[in-house]
Amino acid sequence: MRIDKLLSEMGKATRSESARLARQGKILVNGVPVKRADVHVDPEKDEIALCGTKITYKKFTYIMLNKPEGYVSATDDAREKTVLDLLNDEERRKDLFPCGRLDKNTLGLVILTNDGESAHRLLSPKHHAKKVYKFKSKLPLAESDIKALEDGVDIGDYVTKPCEITMTGDCDGEITLIEGKYHQIKRMLEAVDNKITYLERISFAGVALDTSLDRGEWRYLTDEEEKLLLKENK
Ligand code: URA
Repeated sequence: MRIDKLLSEMGKATRSESARLARQGKILVNGVPVKRADVHVDPEKDEIALCGTKITYKKFTYIMLNKPEGYVSATDDAREKTVLDLLNDEERRKDLFPCGRLDKNTLGLVILTNDGESAHRLLSPKHHAKKVYKFKSKLPLAESDIKALEDGVDIGDYVTKPCEITMTGDCDGEITLIEGKYHQIKRMLEAVDNKITYLERISFAGVALDTSLDRGEWRYLTDEEEKLLLKENK
């Protein structure tokens, strides 16, 4: 692949920056400066360095973000702050997008990636990727409400699939869904005459939110988490 494409996919430099860096002798392939940014390299075999730093090529990036309140799960928005605004410039150049949506006031785990095919599979209703949320409700949930929610409730235009609920108090618990309709959990609670007052996603497709991340912080998925995500993806 062309070295400027590789550097741009890695978020290291735009195509025009690569051309300039090559002219300045700042791109080395196997220790030798390249004069042009359109030279072809084998990312598996060639050793590439940019401004003295070795570049390890990875085709796709997977990031875990701890979403704070007030950000929308979109790549750009004319009025609102998006989850991508929480990244740095290098990551922002990688064409990342959120794999699934959380409401503006929902907190917690968002996976950002540029792996369109895997994201598409993970989000497909057929895939049944598990999403676990911590929730708080305005009113206590009776046993009969929990049973109704677990069996599936009518949320207006749709009857929800069975889900699992574990209560941790009268008004709080964890809910595991295998689907993701618009405002699903909020609408489910409304279907049993209750209301969500707090919602946080703590796991997605087997990957748990790293509790050491503050709200608004992010990190790359570890190799194990990547495997988990992509295994759940098969
Ligand atoms: N269900 C909701 O109602 N909102 C979310 O953000 C996620 C699930």
